Amino acid sequence: MEFQTILFSVENGTAIITINRADKMNALNRDVINDMSKALDAVYTSPDIRSAIITGAGAKAFVAGADISEFTSLDGAGGEALSRYGQEHLFSKVENCPKPIIAAVNGFSLGGGCELAMACHFRVASENAKFGQPEVNLGLIPGYGGTQRLAQLIGKGKAMEISLTGGMINAQEALQYGLVNYVVPADELVAKCQALCDVINTKAPLALAQIIACMNKESRGNDGFETEIKAFGALFDTADMREGVTAFLEKRKAVFTGK
Ligand code: COA
Repeated sequence: MEFQTILFSVENGTAIITINRADKMNALNRDVINDMSKALDAVYTSPDIRSAIITGAGAKAFVAGADISEFTSLDGAGGEALSRYGQEHLFSKVENCPKPIIAAVNGFSLGGGCELAMACHFRVASENAKFGQPEVNLGLIPGYGGTQRLAQLIGKGKAMEISLTGGMINAQEALQYGLVNYVVPADELVAKCQALCDVINTKAPLALAQIIACMNKESRGNDGFETEIKAFGALFDTADMREGVTAFLEKRKAVFTGK
């Protein structure tokens, strides 16, 4: 299999998928989403793969969000389409994968990065990991399921605080809130995930798939994902979103006016 933006290998029945744009903090652009989608097709269908680990290249970032440079050319319809495309081809595909997928969070896990980690079935973090939903700093909201999954995982109050302040929490806080299951030294991160997968890989595949399907069904009682996609798109037609994105790209602080 040929990929431009990710590394893909299979070890002991576990696919290791590494997002490989370290110079851009592994930000999710259209090419990464398409490559991830293709890799997930292999996870879904290959009889040699029983579980997967998703991680980021380099020592600094798991994924620092959607690629903000792709936002500048989009209007409301384009923003909505971006969100819908990503949710369908990556985030829902990860969450609904019949084989367990663990996020190995090796650094900044922000915006779409936090959302990608949350779409995985559970998460292990390195000691230097940091989590957040900073979209509000851009005049936006999480558009890849973050308004839904964060509250499901850590409760509405903490999810509100993180999303409304646009701040970050560290790995120990993420552990305390239940966002991650373990915090380990960075050089032990993938080995810890592989050890968990080694256990999972001995279990009955059909039973694993049903555990995932049943747990996902339990947490889907509303149309929150659709509401999020539409609201994310609508914000692309605001002056504040233009200001937020331009300010990030110009490396300055945004000034919002509520328009
Ligand atoms: N989209 C596009 N490019 C991004 C990015 C993103 N989400 N996150 C980081 N980058 C790029 C930077 O623009 C920079 O590129 P350059 O070297 O060409 O200027 C490069 O990655 C390194 O990032 P930099 O900001 O210089 O590193 P830092 O260590 O000072 O800060 C972060 C790291 C993660 C705190 C900071 O990059 C950040 O806040 N990123 C955006 C997070 C975000 O808002 N995500 C939600 C998007 S919806």
